[in-house]
Amino acid sequence: MIPSHVVNRPTGRETGSFLALDLGGTNFRVCEVVLDGHSGARVRQSKHTITEAQKAAPGNELFDFFADCVYNFIAENGQAALTKKYKLGFTFSFAVNQVAINKGFLILWNKGFTNSGVVGADVVALLQAAFHRKKLNIDVTALVNDTTGTLMSHAYIQPSTRVGVILGTGTNCAYVERMENVTKYTPTDTPDAKEIIINMEWGAFDDEQVVIPRNKYDVKVDRTMNVQGKYTFEKMISGMYLGEIVRFVLVDLVKTGEIFKAGASPELNKPNHFETAFMSRIERDHTLDLNDTRTVLEDMLKIPRTTLADRRLVKTLCELVGKRSARLSAAGIAAVVTKMNKLDGCTVGIDGSLFELYPHYSNRMRDALREILGISAEYVVLEQARDGSGQGAALIAALADKQ
Ligand code: BG6
Ligand code: GLC
Repeated sequence: MIPSHVVNRPTGRETGSFLALDLGGTNFRVCEVVLDGHSGARVRQSKHTITEAQKAAPGNELFDFFADCVYNFIAENGQAALTKKYKLGFTFSFAVNQVAINKGFLILWNKGFTNSGVVGADVVALLQAAFHRKKLNIDVTALVNDTTGTLMSHAYIQPSTRVGVILGTGTNCAYVERMENVTKYTPTDTPDAKEIIINMEWGAFDDEQVVIPRNKYDVKVDRTMNVQGKYTFEKMISGMYLGEIVRFVLVDLVKTGEIFKAGASPELNKPNHFETAFMSRIERDHTLDLNDTRTVLEDMLKIPRTTLADRRLVKTLCELVGKRSARLSAAGIAAVVTKMNKLDGCTVGIDGSLFELYPHYSNRMRDALREILGISAEYVVLEQARDGSGQGAALIAALADKQ
């Protein structure tokens, strides 16, 4: 439960031009956001993928890469643009101990990043130093989690938004809390502030493992991926892990002779070779013979020959793991909205590839919300937020400017 230092929600009247840098999902992005003061924004952006090698490189190299991308992005506006002064909101979607709106120390890496020299460091200072090395005149004025960014950008267009959720590579939630409930934060600069956004880092919920039942596949995923014993809720929900859960079950079913009797494949034994995107494709397969499922299993996973019974079993398995993910995230939202006392009406802005692309995901969440909250579930509106983090970071940079 990390106070974000964001104590204002946007009014829609914010104006100005800001840069934003967004790291933490599938893509790394550089954005230029121009807020028009009428709930509108013009966004120009460049997208980059971060390679596995970059995720493991020394931290300075990663931050130099960010500075290079920003340099090239600004240079697209002409050489003169490179000498101008800019303000930048940094969406850094990892757990940071945030001590000011533009200062935060990385607590731990997750989602496959392991860059050395960053854990324990102020990530804003690292980025600022990389900009100096590149002779860019940029002030990093806000450090933002993607959930906070999503909440803010969705609130900019839909003022009833009180919760921001990411369901993608990782998962997390931010919500608006009343200041008097937040004992670990004193708003010294803004003594009149009545509320603050809390970055829950809900991926780490129940790491003590006393609330949610885990099965042996969850335990295996926890042991083999990222930091063991950490972010165990996230490991049951988010896109980075679901395929791996399914793969572990399949490996077991092969061992017990219950599937792929004609033989499995070395691919199936390779970590992370069953992607969550395969699950989406299999769940979307409504052909009589499950032909798409066959393509995934035989062409991509190189299983020599599958029967219809094999394919049905794989599909059921994907359904179980996908459904459990949706239901757990809905349980999280139900808990947050109940805690906020907002069962009479609240909008939840949700971004991330899992929510956007995984079939039936939002309907499964809605079913679970109904089971948990009854009729009140009708007043909890789940809305797709798209690419909001960059715009959210710009908004927060704008508010920080006023503050
Ligand atoms: C994007 C946000 O739309 O969604 C990012 O701008 C966020 O900040 C991302 O991290 C999460 O999605 P995924 O699926 O890429 O992890
Ligand atoms: C991880 C990060 C968190 C982020 C989430 C979604 O859980 O720790 O900060 O919000 O992924 O990207």
